[in-house]
Formats: sequence, C-alpha cells, structure tokens
Amino acid sequence: MSKSSNHTYSFPENFLWGGAIAANQAEGAYNLGGKGLSTQDVAPRGVMGSITEEPTDDNMKLIGIDMYHRYKEDVKLFAEMGFKVFRTSIAWSRIFPKGDELEPNEEGLQFYDNLFDECRKYGIEPLVTLSHYETPLHLAKEYDGWVNRKMIGFYERYATTVFNRYKNKVKYWLTFNEINSILEFPFMSGGIYTPKEKLSKQDLYQAIHHELVASASAVKLCHEIIPDAQIGCMILSMPTYPLTPNPDDVIKVMEYEHSNYFFGDMHVRGRYPGYMKRYFREKGIEIHMEDGDQEMLLNTVDFISFSYYMSTCQTADPDKQVAGEGNLIGGIPNPYLPASEWGWQIDPQGLRYVLNMFYDRYQKPLFIVENGLGAVDELITGPDGEKTVNDDYRIQYLNDHLVQVGEALEDGVDIMGYTSWGCIDVVSASTAQLKKRYGFIYVDRHDDGSGTLERYRKKSFHWYKDVIASNGNSLKR
Ligand code: BG6
Repeated sequence: MSKSSNHTYSFPENFLWGGAIAANQAEGAYNLGGKGLSTQDVAPRGVMGSITEEPTDDNMKLIGIDMYHRYKEDVKLFAEMGFKVFRTSIAWSRIFPKGDELEPNEEGLQFYDNLFDECRKYGIEPLVTLSHYETPLHLAKEYDGWVNRKMIGFYERYATTVFNRYKNKVKYWLTFNEINSILEFPFMSGGIYTPKEKLSKQDLYQAIHHELVASASAVKLCHEIIPDAQIGCMILSMPTYPLTPNPDDVIKVMEYEHSNYFFGDMHVRGRYPGYMKRYFREKGIEIHMEDGDQEMLLNTVDFISFSYYMSTCQTADPDKQVAGEGNLIGGIPNPYLPASEWGWQIDPQGLRYVLNMFYDRYQKPLFIVENGLGAVDELITGPDGEKTVNDDYRIQYLNDHLVQVGEALEDGVDIMGYTSWGCIDVVSASTAQLKKRYGFIYVDRHDDGSGTLERYRKKSFHWYKDVIASNGNSLKR
C-alpha cells in the first residue's frame, strides 16, 4: 500500500485534541490552601532517586511551574492553541490532606472548581486523573499505601467527593495513572512505603488487587453519580519486540507483555486471566479476596487510555540482558531505533502497533493521553522580538507519531483523542528535572531554582495550533 506524500488523514470530527499534565508536576504550592504532603513532596530526584523525611528545597515540584497561581494564563494559552481537552490530575492531598479524614478540605475543592471553570469558559473539556503518582504521604507512612485494604475505602471517599463536586464540570475521568508502573515503582505508583527490595511479590500483588477493586469501584461510582460521564483506566504502554526471531525470545516477549496486559485485561474483562493464575500458582502467591470483590471487578471501563513514548525489546538470552534507559519500565535497546537525549528510543510506528494491539484485544475506544519528547530547549529571541524556542525536533517527533495515529484510524481503530504530554513545560517524573522539557510553552524556571516563571510560545505552539485547526490535515507523511 503506497501513499502519496500529500496524503491526508481523516481524524473524526469530534476528535479530542489537547495536552496533559499532572498536578504534582505543575501546580507547586505544595503546602498552600490546606494541602497535605504527598509522596512527591519527599521525592526530590523523582522516581529514580531516594526519598527524604521532609520536603527539601532542592525538590523542584514544591514550586513546580506555579500553575496553582498561574492557571488562568496557562488555560488561556491552551485555548489559543485550540485545545478541545486538557488532562490534569487532582492532587488527592489537596482534597483530603492526610487521606483518612472524613471531611474534605474546602479550599482544595475550590481550587479545582476554579480551574475547571476556567477550562469550560473556553470550551475545553477537563480530563481528570484521580491519582497520578501523588498518594497522600500519611497514607504511605501509616498504612503502607495500597498494600493495606483500607486504602479502598479512602479512595472511594475521595472519588465520591470529587464526582459529586465536579459532576457538572468533568465528563472524562481516569482512575490511576499508569497503573502497571507499580510493578517497578511501588512507592511512587502505589504509595507503598516498604522499600522495593523488601517488598514481597505476595504484598505487591495484594496491593494491585486492592487498586483494581478501587478502580472498579470508582467506575461504578462515576456511572451512578455522573451518568453522562466516561471513565477509563490508564496504562503505561511500551510495546515489546523480540530481540531475535528465536522462539525463546518470542515467548519471553509474550510473558513480559502479559505482565502489563494483565492491568488492561482486568479493567476490560473484570476477571483474573489464566496466565496470571498460573503466575500466582508458580510463585506461591495467594490473593486474599473479600466477598463482593469479584462482583465489583465486573464494573469495567468505558475506554482505555494509555501513555506511549517508546518501544523496547526483550530476549531470553541471559548474556544479552542490557538495561536500557526509558520510561519507567526499561527494557533492552532496539538496534534499529534512535534515542532521545535521555535514552528513550523513538519509534513512531510503535504507536500504530500498540493502538492496533489494544483495539484487537479489547474492541473499546482508546485515548492516547501521553506522548511527547523530553528535550533540552534553548530560549532565543525570534525575528519578531519575542522570546521563543526553535524546537523543530519536537515538531518532527509529534508529527511522526500523529501520522501513525492517522494510520491506525485507517486501520479502523476507534480513537477518542490525543493529549500530548507536558503541553506546558513541567517538572519531569522520572528525574524531577525542569531541564527535560516537553511543552509547546516554555516556562522560565531552571533546575538551580532560578527563573522568572514567565511563559513563552515555542515554535511547536504554532505548529500544534495548525494541526488542531486543520483536524490533522496539516500533518506531513
Ligand atoms: C509518564 C508519567 O510516565 O511519563 C508522567 O505519567 C511523566 O508523569 C511522563 O512526566 C514523562 O516522563 P518524564 O520522566 O520524562 O517526566
């Protein structure tokens, strides 16, 4: 099938174009408005680094990009690009500062009222993640996070509170960001305070069971409280290729993919799959279920959302187990692919592949809620005297990935929308750096704490505006 270079793609009329961030990477104001501490406030080096007892000044997330105070300016810029949707998260500890209180914090609720009102003023739909790597710290320290079954009740109370409060303002919800990343990062993803090296597989999978029940419960609550809303799961997707055609490598890939598909399978089918039961049997893991858990799990999601940054390889050959760099779950580098400055391999076709894989498996609408390039940007003065960044590398990356979204649409995949990650520069999750920028909007803040926090439109800002205005017709094959 050959296509001419001026081939255009038919994105659906109602395709939700937009951008994504998370509260803890953007808002700052970590101790304002009655907010309690979250796990992020004691992780100054991101998921890769160790945690501190108290928040320390070198933690860039404490101030973030100060979106808490500047959201009006930021939403206005998103509207200027033509966003139809803006993905952010609610910081759980703004609503329930410790996590186990009975009453929510009104000032925290008011902040998100203001933010969502500002979005709606411009016709931008908020897409809200209930939990994006920001478990209240108290729940981590006192309860060991999701290892403890009590977390289900705390999460249900939080979800019920925000569903009731924002039922007229938010129609798209996600339960847990990259829920499968708990396999690698139990503290950041699951608020589990027990160090990873001491955490047993039994406790890890019990924690996952609690999260899955809580996620299904949030789906049920959302459907009851906001009947016209849609709620999805969110999976870190990293398609995995066999390093060689050796059947041992192919089976290794299948097993590796199962460890991640497990999370989608549970959210879509509501039952433990056979391959997981086998894994539990062979590892001596027994999931403790209470009455009603199996039934609760049958509350399945309306759509599947996922992040996509890169693909990776696996092999069964013990001599080739090289650790690649990459989006949280790592893997073996692919010799055919280039990489970003942070070693994340760039594979636009992997996005078409993963869209097809998910759709073939689930036949549910898909939402790409993260994709983008983290790069070092140089702020310059443009010909019109305005400060800007000539980020052609980012435009190339995004164009090439969106072309593959167009291809997947032609394959017949049902895709609801696309929110580019870090639509405005935010603090990175894995390394807590501001130097690693993803945005269409440059934020003048640096890893040494300097900067004015002023916002500047990058070249990609104007490019994305054209993509949205043309509903994808301006993309170049
Ligand atoms: C995803 C996370 O893993 O990747 C985001 O959901 C994160 O929170 C994004 O920011 C990009 O990763 P990083 O480490 O470059 O910020």
